[in-house]
Amino acid sequence: MTLSVNSLADIAVNIQVSLSRPDRFSRIISSIHHLLNCDATALLCYEAHQFRPVATAGLAPDVMGRRFQLEAHPRLEAIARAGDVVRFPAESDLPDPYDGLIPEHQELHVHACVGLPLFSGQRLIGALTLDGMNATQFDAYSDEELRVVAALVSGALNNALLLEQLERPGVGGFSRAAEEVKEIDSDEMIGSSPAMMQLKKEIGIVAATDLNVLITGETGVGKELVARALHQQSARSTQPLIYLNCAALPESVAESELFGHVKGAFTGAIHDRTGKFEMANNGTLFLDEIGELPLSLQAKLLRVLQYGDLQRVGEDRPLKVDVRILAATNQDLRQASAEGRFRTDLFHRLSVFPLHVPPLRERGDDIVLLAGYFCEKCRKKFGLRHLALSAAARAVLRKAEWPGNIRELEHSIYRATIIAQAEAGGAEVILLPSHFFPAQASASSAEPVAEVAFSSKSLREATDEFQRRYIRQALQASEGKWAACARKLEMDPGNLHRLAGRLGLK
Ligand SMILES: Nc1ncnc2c1ncn2[C@@H]1O[C@H](COP(=O)(O)OP(=O)(O)OP(=O)(O)O)[C@@H](O)[C@H]1O
Ligand SMILES: [Mg+2]
Repeated sequence: MTLSVNSLADIAVNIQVSLSRPDRFSRIISSIHHLLNCDATALLCYEAHQFRPVATAGLAPDVMGRRFQLEAHPRLEAIARAGDVVRFPAESDLPDPYDGLIPEHQELHVHACVGLPLFSGQRLIGALTLDGMNATQFDAYSDEELRVVAALVSGALNNALLLEQLERPGVGGFSRAAEEVKEIDSDEMIGSSPAMMQLKKEIGIVAATDLNVLITGETGVGKELVARALHQQSARSTQPLIYLNCAALPESVAESELFGHVKGAFTGAIHDRTGKFEMANNGTLFLDEIGELPLSLQAKLLRVLQYGDLQRVGEDRPLKVDVRILAATNQDLRQASAEGRFRTDLFHRLSVFPLHVPPLRERGDDIVLLAGYFCEKCRKKFGLRHLALSAAARAVLRKAEWPGNIRELEHSIYRATIIAQAEAGGAEVILLPSHFFPAQASASSAEPVAEVAFSSKSLREATDEFQRRYIRQALQASEGKWAACARKLEMDPGNLHRLAGRLGLK
C-alpha cells in the first residue's frame, strides 16, 4: 500500500483543524498512526539534547513521561543527525527506545523503524517515529511520501511551539524564550494533571513578581523543584539561588550562617565570613524547612525582610541587601504560629503568596508519567537495554497511596529494578507488581493461573491459540464491542483489529 493523495490531504486537514485544540498532537498522531498502519507512532519535541514525547499512539502510557537523551539512544541520535528520512534495517542492532513499551508486544523487539527529523528552517525541533512489528511494514512508502508527512508535521509542531512561547506567562516572554539555548533541564517538573497545571500556572504568575513565596506540601512532593522553577522563571534568574536548610542549623551557628560574621566576633571566628543573605544579594534565598528556624532567628529574619538591612555578627554597621525569599515547609505554619512556635508576623510576611504542592495521590495519571520518567532515568543509570512496566505494575502504582510522594515513587522504581534484574538477569527488564510489593503479589498469586501443558505445537501456534481464547473472553466481557475490548486489553483498536483478523476471529 502506498500513500494516496487523499491520505496526505487527510493529514493536512487534520493538522489544520487540530491546531487550536489542546489535544492537537494526539489527534494528528492518531491519524498518522492509522493512515500509515503503524504499531507505534510518536511525535517528539527536541530540546537540550533530549527528545520529549508530545503525543504517542500504540505505546505504553508512561512513555509520555520519559525523556530520551540523545547519547543514551543511538537510534534517536541517528535521526537527529540525519537531516532526512532514516530507515533502520530490520536486523539493526541498535536498541529501539520503544522496545518493551508497545503494550501488546512487550517482549518483542520492534522490526520496522522509520524516523523523520522535523525542522524549522535549519533548526531541529523534533522527530516523528514510526515503528512496526513487521519488518517490511513501511517499505511501500517512498521517501518522497514520508518527506511530505514530515513537512506537514514540522509545520504544525513549529506553530504549536511558537504559540506555547507566546502563551507563557511572566517575564521572559517571547523573544528570550525563542533565543535561549537551554541547558539540560534536569529540573523539569513532570505532570499534566489539573492540580499540576494549576500549580505551574501559579508559578509562572508569581515568579514574575518579586514577592516572597511560602511553598507548602507533604514530604517529597517537589517543593524544592518548585523553588528552583520560581527562581529560574524570575527576573533574578541570572543571579544566584542560595540554599539554606533551617533544620540542619544548630542555633549556635545559625546566625553567622545567615548573616555572616567578622573576624574575632566570637571564639573561633578567625576570618570574616559572608552569610547566605549576602551571597544571595540581588538573587534568591531558599529557606528550606523554615518551620525549624529557632524563634530568636525568626526575629532577625523578620528585620531583614522589613528593612532590607542586616548586620554581620560582631559588626555594628548595617549592610543593605536585596534578596527575594522563598521558604518551604511541610508543617502547618498557621497552626504553629497559633501555638506560639512560629512568629505570626513572620508567617504573614512570608506567606504573601502561598503555593501548595499537591500530594502524589491527588495527581492521578501523573503517577504513570513520573513512573516512566524514573524508569528511563534508571534504565540509563543501570545501562539496561530496556526497562518497562507491565500493565499490572502500572495499575498497582497508580492505586498506591505514596505517603512519601515522588521521592518514594522514585526509590521504589530503583529498588524494583534491582530486584527484577537480580531475579531475571539480562539487560531487558520488565517490572511486575511483585517487584514493587512482594507481600501483595504473593497474596494475589493465590489466584488460579491457567496451567498450560506442553503439547507438540510450536510456540507460535500455542501463543495464537491462547490469544484467540483470551480475546474471545475479553470480547464477551465487552458485550461484543471491539473498542471496549481493545480498552480492556490495553491495546490500540487498530492493532486489535489486525490481530483478530490474523487469528481468524473476524
Ligand atoms: N514533578 C516532578 N517531576 C520530576 N521529578 C520530581 C517532581 N517533583 C519532585 N521530583 C523529584 O522528587 C524528589 C523529591 O523532590 P523535592 O526534594 O523537591 O521534594 P520536597 O517537597 O522538597 O521534599 P521534602 O519535604 O522531603 O524536603 C527529587 O528527586 C525531585 O527531583
Ligand atoms: Mg525539600
